[in-house]
Amino acid sequence: MNGIAFWFVAVAALCVTIGMGWGIQMSASGNHLLAGAHAHLNLVGWATMGLFGLYYHAVPAAAARSLAKVHFIVALAGVVLMVPGIALAITERGEMLAVTGSLLTFASMLIFLFTVATNRTA
Ligand code: HEM
Repeated sequence: MNGIAFWFVAVAALCVTIGMGWGIQMSASGNHLLAGAHAHLNLVGWATMGLFGLYYHAVPAAAARSLAKVHFIVALAGVVLMVPGIALAITERGEMLAVTGSLLTFASMLIFLFTVATNRTA
């Protein structure tokens, strides 16, 4: 695997490694307060980013577009802002980061929807 597919899957693997460590820390401490942030790191960072990576690996024509790089940057920024944003929101320290991150994450899914729709082959 190389190119943009590699970077999506590499970020996904990093997210789930951190996410699992966080889960173990929550279990060991008995403090599940930030479970919502942990869940989003795993589900958006690992599952969603990983699926994007596998898609780009399976569809090289989509990976070759410059839009794929834009997609990666928007999706990465979404996860990086949304996860700490949710932690801040849960602990009542503001919601702006969560809002910004979630809008970027939504934008990344719109880019993916467009990419899928415009890469149909016979
Ligand atoms: C070493 C691996 C993991 C550990 C030790 C772990 C641990 C935990 C713990 C302690 C909670 C809080 C449970 C509660 O308060 O009811 C939790 C919640 C959750 N985890 Fe994990 N987790 C792990 C991996 C994952 C992965 C890989 C995913 C998703 C792909 C995931 C998704 C979730 C979800 C969706 C929740 C529920 C969040 C909520 O109710 O707000 N976890 N996890």
